[in-house]
Amino acid sequence: MSNSAHAYRGAILHSLADPAEVGIEASYAYFEDGILLVEDGKVREVGHAADLLPRLSGVALTHYENALITPGFIDTHIHYPQTDMIGAYGEQLLDWLNTYTFPTEMRFADKAHASEVADVFLKELLRNGTTTALVFGSVHKESVDAFFEAARTLNLRMIAGKVLMDRNAPEALTDTVESGYADSRELIERWHGKGRLHYAVTPRFAPTSTPAQLAMAGRLLQEYPDLYLHTHLSENRQEIEWVKELFPENSGYLDVYDKHQLTGPRSVFAHSVHLCDTECERLAESGSAVAFCPTSNLFLGSGLFDLRRMEQHKVRVGLGTDIGAGTSFSQLRSLSEAYKIMQLQGQKLDPFKSLYLATLGSARALYLDERIGNFAAGKEADFVVLDYRATPLIDYRLQQSGNLAERLFALITLGDDRVIKETFAAGQSVHRRDS
Ligand code: GUN
Ligand code: ZN
Repeated sequence: MSNSAHAYRGAILHSLADPAEVGIEASYAYFEDGILLVEDGKVREVGHAADLLPRLSGVALTHYENALITPGFIDTHIHYPQTDMIGAYGEQLLDWLNTYTFPTEMRFADKAHASEVADVFLKELLRNGTTTALVFGSVHKESVDAFFEAARTLNLRMIAGKVLMDRNAPEALTDTVESGYADSRELIERWHGKGRLHYAVTPRFAPTSTPAQLAMAGRLLQEYPDLYLHTHLSENRQEIEWVKELFPENSGYLDVYDKHQLTGPRSVFAHSVHLCDTECERLAESGSAVAFCPTSNLFLGSGLFDLRRMEQHKVRVGLGTDIGAGTSFSQLRSLSEAYKIMQLQGQKLDPFKSLYLATLGSARALYLDERIGNFAAGKEADFVVLDYRATPLIDYRLQQSGNLAERLFALITLGDDRVIKETFAAGQSVHRRDS
């Protein structure tokens, strides 16, 4: 074993598969007293301490008591320029964009401002245990340079892109087909596949791109292998009516993206709250994914995401915060609100399904499950240490419940950034709550 090997001891929990496919019991592995053995930034082995310890003499060991080690959380939809404007009052999507979002995003023409916010944003993600995210920049290429520079310094696996927007937005926030293409290409050449970074072609949503710009986005996906496509879909009823007016020749909202060659593996459609069966089928068949954004859907009054329907159609689903329409960076908070969204539809959200959504399920949605999402040997060692004693109430509540499912559910329901004791990316500590 190399000098870099490090063993982390504590209760360890990770997802193995989607509970919707294999049932709850086969969907996870749990080690009450476990060891996560990390070497050269990767998971070498996970197992019971009693089995591993005898083979670990000389290996550095950190023991976490009253804590649970899980894979790092993954956020499949978030806007870093909107860090400044979380909790903006009173509007639904289209008015919210015009009143708050667009003025905020204008400031990202200034690289120094972008770098300052990128720093705050990444710190906040790590404070909340999120180690990978699919991130909207602003229309300015400088915003994406600032973001990737900061992410590279921390060696995080991150996906981001510059917004494409050539109509129905303020002049200062629009590009053109040509400049959007040139700027995106420049950023792809500079960042895509560098270290742990990936580029996402990012048309904001159908209403703010001309058909010519959407076609250009499709062309970029053809020109470079393994790019992501990141946009919004069917979030709000007014928005959907607007898309029908703007694209009368298309059969529906998803069809606009589909006809411009924007569906497929690594295409992620945020929200997807109001879809018909044909659209769900098309998402599944094309290998596209949707991002379920609970706190945002409630905050903007957008609607109730139907997770069961997505499972029935076998659509890949990731979990997103959608900051700044979302109200928390914490994926524990997202899951707590997801549970309530299911309740309002007469459904349940099992805590092990929640764990899956925030980790392996989101990794699958991003086609990154060969690299992250659980503790399979060889995966990148992105993980978090959750503190069972984070607050007096959490401590008290967890002492009342013996079984793992109950404890996990209570931790999700009551938890937030206070629960995240430490966060690791590629085996390195990148956030420690108490330091
Ligand atoms: N649709 C188009 N742009 C946005 C955005 O910035 N946030 C959300 N939630 N929806 C959008
Ligand atoms: Zn969004």
